[in-house]
Amino acid sequence: MEKQQQMPYEKGLDHSLKLLREGYSFIINRKQAFDSNVFETKLLGEKVICLTGSEAAELFYDTEKFKREGAAPEPVKKVLFGDGGVQALDGEAHRHRKAMFMDVMSQEQLARVRDLTEKYWDAAAAAWENRDEIVLYDEINRIFTQTACEWTGIPLGDDEVDTRAGQLQELFESSAEVSMSHLKARRDRSELEDWVKQYIRDVRNETRDVPEHTPLYKFSHHLDHNNEKLDEQTVAVELLNLIRPLVAISVYVVFTALALHEYPNEKEKLHTREEKRLEWFIQEVRRFYPFFPFTAARVNKSFSWNGYEFEEETLTLLDLYGTNHHPGDWNHPETFAPDRFADWDESPFNFIPQGGGEFDLGHRCAGEWVTIDLMKVSLDYIAHKLNYTLPEQDLSYSLAEIPALPASGIRMKNVKRKDTVN
Ligand code: HEM
Repeated sequence: MEKQQQMPYEKGLDHSLKLLREGYSFIINRKQAFDSNVFETKLLGEKVICLTGSEAAELFYDTEKFKREGAAPEPVKKVLFGDGGVQALDGEAHRHRKAMFMDVMSQEQLARVRDLTEKYWDAAAAAWENRDEIVLYDEINRIFTQTACEWTGIPLGDDEVDTRAGQLQELFESSAEVSMSHLKARRDRSELEDWVKQYIRDVRNETRDVPEHTPLYKFSHHLDHNNEKLDEQTVAVELLNLIRPLVAISVYVVFTALALHEYPNEKEKLHTREEKRLEWFIQEVRRFYPFFPFTAARVNKSFSWNGYEFEEETLTLLDLYGTNHHPGDWNHPETFAPDRFADWDESPFNFIPQGGGEFDLGHRCAGEWVTIDLMKVSLDYIAHKLNYTLPEQDLSYSLAEIPALPASGIRMKNVKRKDTVN
């Protein structure tokens, strides 16, 4: 029998304010203080277990031990995920819904998304030549909004791009905030859902010709685990679960541009445009820079692990950022070193910027391959197809702010396409 022991715990009534102040470092700071990958704290008056590192990640992704029902905080559910989305499902209902997502992640679909991304990158880069200066973050948001809409099958007029890009950006920027912008983001979500719903009705009433390979068509006709079509609201939520995160890849593209600027030696290594070098670089961007701080689940049935008691229903956070920086899993984790991926063991638990474990059975991000592809296209574009200068600006970002982003959004001047490269 395993000897039971008291889990390290943070004294005090509530530590929510510290979480707001410390942001991405909240779990790391306590992991160091307790010298433990498992500890207990209190957030919003509730006992919460925090986990970090690959061993704990493997535990967290055991779907017998943890469930997602009731785990996401209300503001995140209302703005980021949407009600009724795949993120909060468990068991058979989750597996069935997840299959709907993985079905639109085939090689053909990925090739379509890549082609569309290149098309909109080309159009945008041509237009930038007539401008004195651009803000990369805003521009990539527009490129990815156009890509996401055309890929999923949602019509988007030229005059609509700015509005929809702004609303989608608001969803991932303001979901964690308790502020006026959070209220605005809730309104944006409801407007986006109404916008998508009209096209779902069109598909179902056959009043618009929509190609059968588009996610709009597929999701509108998808039969759920109970063999019934999803209601219109849920289809809208799930289509936005493709569009919203695809647009959010803009955050990683901005960090990619920052890494090219901050690590010129690493940029130099890309000059042959070798596929594997591009891949190592963007993998290191996803490991090194902050995006999702942690993900949440609840204990399914009480169990004991390493002598610690996990009581049924306890809210449990897995530190995504901290696991990617865990000294037990990574050598010199605070050094930006793409070459480390040359001999990465491909464990599904030590490199988890978009969640870990299995795609089909667990909650690992359905869009990880899309993300890698779009980042590679964008890295190659910025590093090899453009000339530009970075004027004086504030490129700093703060680990206390979730989501983190370089303050200037990366301003670029005199952007010109290099005509020698295609
Ligand atoms: C910006 C890059 C992205 C990041 C950082 C990201 C991150 C994440 C994270 C952390 C999770 C939750 C993992 C967990 O709770 O265990 C997740 C789930 C998910 N992501 Fe992504 N994601 C990204 C891009 C995408 C894209 C491009 C798509 C689709 C086109 C997508 C679709 C989804 C879906 C559907 C889920 C829910 C999966 C489930 O609950 O089974 N994501 N993502």
